[in-house]
Amino acid sequence: MENRGSFASRFGVIAAMAGSAVGLGNIWKFPYMVGENGGSAFIITYLIISVLITAPVLIAEMSLGRMGGQNVLGTFRTLAPKQKAWQGVGWLGLITAFVILSFYSVIAGWSLAFIKESVVGGFMGKSVTEVTADFNGFIASGWQPVAWAIVFLVMTCLIAGSGLQKGIERSSKLLMPLLAVLLVVLVVRSFFLGGFGESVQFLVKPDFSKITPEVMVAALGQSFFSLSVGMGTMLTYGSYVKKSENITGVVTNVLIADVAIAILAGFAIFPAVFTFDINPTSGPDLVFLTLPSLFAQIGGGQIMSILFFVLLFFAALTSAFSLLEVVVAYVTEELKLKRRSAVIVSFVGLAILATLCAMSQMPDSALRLGSLNLFDAFDKVSSNVMLPLGGLLIVLFWAWKLPKQRVQEEITNNGTCSGRIFPVLYFLLRYIVPVALVIMFINLNF
Ligand code: PHE
Repeated sequence: MENRGSFASRFGVIAAMAGSAVGLGNIWKFPYMVGENGGSAFIITYLIISVLITAPVLIAEMSLGRMGGQNVLGTFRTLAPKQKAWQGVGWLGLITAFVILSFYSVIAGWSLAFIKESVVGGFMGKSVTEVTADFNGFIASGWQPVAWAIVFLVMTCLIAGSGLQKGIERSSKLLMPLLAVLLVVLVVRSFFLGGFGESVQFLVKPDFSKITPEVMVAALGQSFFSLSVGMGTMLTYGSYVKKSENITGVVTNVLIADVAIAILAGFAIFPAVFTFDINPTSGPDLVFLTLPSLFAQIGGGQIMSILFFVLLFFAALTSAFSLLEVVVAYVTEELKLKRRSAVIVSFVGLAILATLCAMSQMPDSALRLGSLNLFDAFDKVSSNVMLPLGGLLIVLFWAWKLPKQRVQEEITNNGTCSGRIFPVLYFLLRYIVPVALVIMFINLNF
């Protein structure tokens, strides 16, 4: 256990955690959810939920990791030695990592395919209908999305296999600043499109009648997904954070980065959507079908398109290796395999699941769970059920099972850093967050 390592610097911790948080959730999902759920009304709900509910859960999760100093399962075993049931949270986290990574690598694979297509100019001069037809052909082929997803998984595994500092920390420190620069370039280009003003209206002027219980459930699920909360990713990363690091400070930075990047992604995407009078509610297709054809019609569009999909790929990569780390930490510490072997074992399982997810999108595929294909089912169930459930259990453990003094010491580094927000945090985590999560479960319907 002594040699499991830790992140080397504060910037490394923030880059890795922000890298986990900023992902497809921010750039692919957030814009279309904003589009589907009433624009700025959704954004405001999302912000309130992220500050009052998700960020506190993130603090709890990260601090548990640092207290336990191990993988998810080992952490719960150490912190509650006599109550085995709590290890269930660890199992739930491991399963969730597989579920998310399997559909996640399919979408990340699309982004690789779209980089290639943008580079060879394959979208140029094409209408939305033509791009849609091409995309449907791509999905229906089955083998193409599978191949790209596997390429993506190999890259993820290569980084994870290179170690915590040399692979994860170093890549996050490089990719996160690059991602921010790419996004700013895209927003600046969008600013010069006719639809920018209309986007500002859509993203900033709220229509509160749009806030329904369904919208709130969607905002909460999205917020958990986007901040990587509720399954042990942040717990595992937290276990690599030094005792001298200020947890609330790190989480504040991660929250700001995550929200800022999601909103900036909206400003990069919606101006093109409004300029061409496209309905902003086009759902998951927004980024993959609408955008390439819009880019194809504007000056510098090919470069925009390349930059956009590279951005999406970087965002996906830093999240994917954080998900994988949950599994790798478990396999190395509990099953005593070397990091490289752990990565290879995980790869095999993930490659199989990702293949099933990609194939489930082929027309007439029998790979379904209820009314949804496997891919959509994994996406929905992870955000709306598994993460909030994991989050609820983590919070109950932190605020009701552990003694107050223990958590207080961890959050304030034994009283060496400011404990002013602790009472607020404790109140939120003990009462408000569990109640909000239970209400959310009651309103959940499929
Ligand atoms: N936060 C990532 C995103 O926004 C997804 C993720 C979820 C990563 C859970 C790790 C754990 O895309």
